[in-house]
Amino acid sequence: MNRIFNVLIFFVLLLLAILIFPVTGLTQSQQGIAFKRVKENFDQRWQFHKGDIAMKRVVQAGGQGGLTDTNVNVIPTKDTVIDYTNENSFKVFYPEDWKEINVPHDWVIEGTFVNDNTLGSQPAVSGYLPTGISFYRKEFQIQATESGRKISIEFDGIFRNSTVWVNGHLLGNHASGYTPSNYDLTDVLRYGDEGKNVILIKVDAREYEGWWYEGGGIYRHVWLVKTDKLHVDRFGTYVTTPSVSADQASVSIKTTLSNEYKTPRNVTLLSKIIDHHGVVLETKTSSLQINSFSKIEVSQQGTILKPMLWSPETPTLYKILTEVWDDKNLVDTYETMFGVRTIEFNRNGFFLNGKLYPVKGTSNHQDFAGIGVALPDKINWYKLKLLKEAGCNGYRTHHPSTPELLHMCDSMGILVLAENRHLSSSEEGLKDLKTMLYRDRNHPCVFIWSMENEECIQGSVTGIRILETLVETTHSIDPTRPVTAAMNHGRNEGGYSEVLDVVGYNYGDKKMAYVKDHENHPERIVFCTESTSFISTRGEYENNWGKGYVSSLSKWAPDWGPFPGEDWADIVKYPFLGGTFVWTGFDYRGEPTPYRWPCVTSHFGFMDICGFPKDGYYAYKAAWTNNPIVHIFPHWNWPGKDGENVPVHCYTNCEEVELFLNGKSIGKQKAVPYKKLVWNLTYTPGTLQAKGYRDGKVVTKDLIETTTAPSQITLASNSTVLAADGCDVAVIRVAVKDAKGRVVPIADNLITFSIEGPGKIIGTGNGDPSSHEPDKAMQRKAFNGYCLVLVQADKQVGEIRLTARSEKLKGNEVMIKVK
Ligand code: GAL
Repeated sequence: MNRIFNVLIFFVLLLLAILIFPVTGLTQSQQGIAFKRVKENFDQRWQFHKGDIAMKRVVQAGGQGGLTDTNVNVIPTKDTVIDYTNENSFKVFYPEDWKEINVPHDWVIEGTFVNDNTLGSQPAVSGYLPTGISFYRKEFQIQATESGRKISIEFDGIFRNSTVWVNGHLLGNHASGYTPSNYDLTDVLRYGDEGKNVILIKVDAREYEGWWYEGGGIYRHVWLVKTDKLHVDRFGTYVTTPSVSADQASVSIKTTLSNEYKTPRNVTLLSKIIDHHGVVLETKTSSLQINSFSKIEVSQQGTILKPMLWSPETPTLYKILTEVWDDKNLVDTYETMFGVRTIEFNRNGFFLNGKLYPVKGTSNHQDFAGIGVALPDKINWYKLKLLKEAGCNGYRTHHPSTPELLHMCDSMGILVLAENRHLSSSEEGLKDLKTMLYRDRNHPCVFIWSMENEECIQGSVTGIRILETLVETTHSIDPTRPVTAAMNHGRNEGGYSEVLDVVGYNYGDKKMAYVKDHENHPERIVFCTESTSFISTRGEYENNWGKGYVSSLSKWAPDWGPFPGEDWADIVKYPFLGGTFVWTGFDYRGEPTPYRWPCVTSHFGFMDICGFPKDGYYAYKAAWTNNPIVHIFPHWNWPGKDGENVPVHCYTNCEEVELFLNGKSIGKQKAVPYKKLVWNLTYTPGTLQAKGYRDGKVVTKDLIETTTAPSQITLASNSTVLAADGCDVAVIRVAVKDAKGRVVPIADNLITFSIEGPGKIIGTGNGDPSSHEPDKAMQRKAFNGYCLVLVQADKQVGEIRLTARSEKLKGNEVMIKVK
């Protein structure tokens, strides 16, 4: 409806403009027509070359070696006829194997696992997938009418060390794989008939930034941004709410305007605050003089009456619509989403909107089954949704995240601890920190900044000096949020903690460090930035060093964290800890603790890398939600174990749980909050049932049964309809079941997929941390009963039919509409 309305308004304005300015020859802006800035998605139709290209020659070809501008076209284009004297040198930057891809793209995930220490410096931590150098290029046209605007390109994230040329001109280099980069293309573009434009990007992913799988390539979105030369600067608004009460919230809006014209401009800035009903307030500042090639920051204030407060339970957002008027012409419009909420950290805990608000958080890396780090937006949304269903209200990034993730946390209601990657006050380090702060400081979901995680120089003299610089930089850019560091040592050394607003404790439960420090340091505000690190392999109940599996029955656990759910007992007992960020919500590639090869994936998640829940998931759901939970495990398929002792474990938030084997009560146990219950049973195949009691009444049940052999496949898609946008994705859970429809918990059948209609399979997974099967494939083995397939819609409408088959099993299919 809104869209139709906007289109109508546009045409009315157009008509008016034509009537008022019938004489042509005036630019759009001189005619007073609203020029809407354009943020064009630039993800589609890139070409990708795996491997290095002799760059010296490309640089020469770019005019850097004294060649004329006409030679710029030698940057590879398939159909350009080039009269070039040295054919051999031309060939090197005209490889034959450019492959068309769309971004987000991660080429590392397409590789083959290899246990070779000579490949990359840390093959285990990054998941035994070779990295390397690769190239991307894209041809594009810019209309002649765009001449005179400012055109820039924004990369949300390239892993890593990217160098960018446009039409042969070297534009720059960006090292970090986690912060965005931006290049002004205005001067080097060819407009209209001048010819096509070519962008070439070298990505060198050989170095690492962390100790986990980081992928390689243009793995986040790319945008082409077109504005008037007089415009709101990149990340140019800062909206805060200095005072908030039930009756009103004051709103402070700081806008940075940039004039890239050769002449000074007389500007009017109009900011409208918009809620879901419409404009609630307009504030206008006129007669602003901006010199040529200058920027100014303009402060404006407003008030929102009876503000709707943002919280994970009520994620209400407001919007600032910024209008920049050059004399009488509207030359730029810009939107900023924000929320009204208060945050406070003190000696008693974390307070959101004035109420104690323990954060139920998880720490996470960004990869996922089937696709590595190249996540379509829908998969980020899917991961967040699974976390919310587990009762989470917090998310900790281990490095600057993709901007869409923060937009989703704003609108879904998830608090974010946003973390800087490197403890570095070098020019490069500060640039990365500042970019994160300027980009992310309007998000209501971001409630605290972290400067670093477990850097070895925590507590050292140098560490303190660097930290001080980072903290001061952060305070100056965003005084509204506290600053922490996620620390595993050095908290009581040399005054490191004193530099911080909030002292972050990674694994502070060891010898109750966070409780003791709270008592011993009367000024210190503490927060539990990381906990748990419980390791388990989904559906495995024995440690298997050969295969790289860890039992889910707590038979081995790292000595630095407690068992699932037990960490929450501390937060309840000591609310001054503020909350916690469990390591981790999902398994991720790399860091295959405690194993090495053949294990290639971590086991820390309470969900596996596909998002299938492990048993520990229920410990958190029991701790974090009021829904009655009883979850018993292991499975009850133990051929050959008849008569042996098989303990049954249970996570619950009920008061009592009664266990039944084949209908006979084995006894009732009183639950101790956040602790697991265990019954010792003699194994007999059949049915295990658990009943959870509150106030003496059965409030929930769990049931597991010994199954018969695998007989059929079922498919469950999270979407029945996808958008025909070439991006939307359906997540399809594949289960192997017996003839009675029960998931066979030890099934490992190979499932083969085929697809018809306007969609494609972009990846598969199964949660097996030692699987060396390719993720980009049309088949996958089930792992302990399940696997996963991701289907992406094309741009055509129609119906996708995904079929799953397996030898000896009854196959199945699922239909997904593409609209
Ligand atoms: C933490 C660290 C994480 C991860 C985890 C594994 O100390 O911050 O990145 O390595 O340990 O337990």
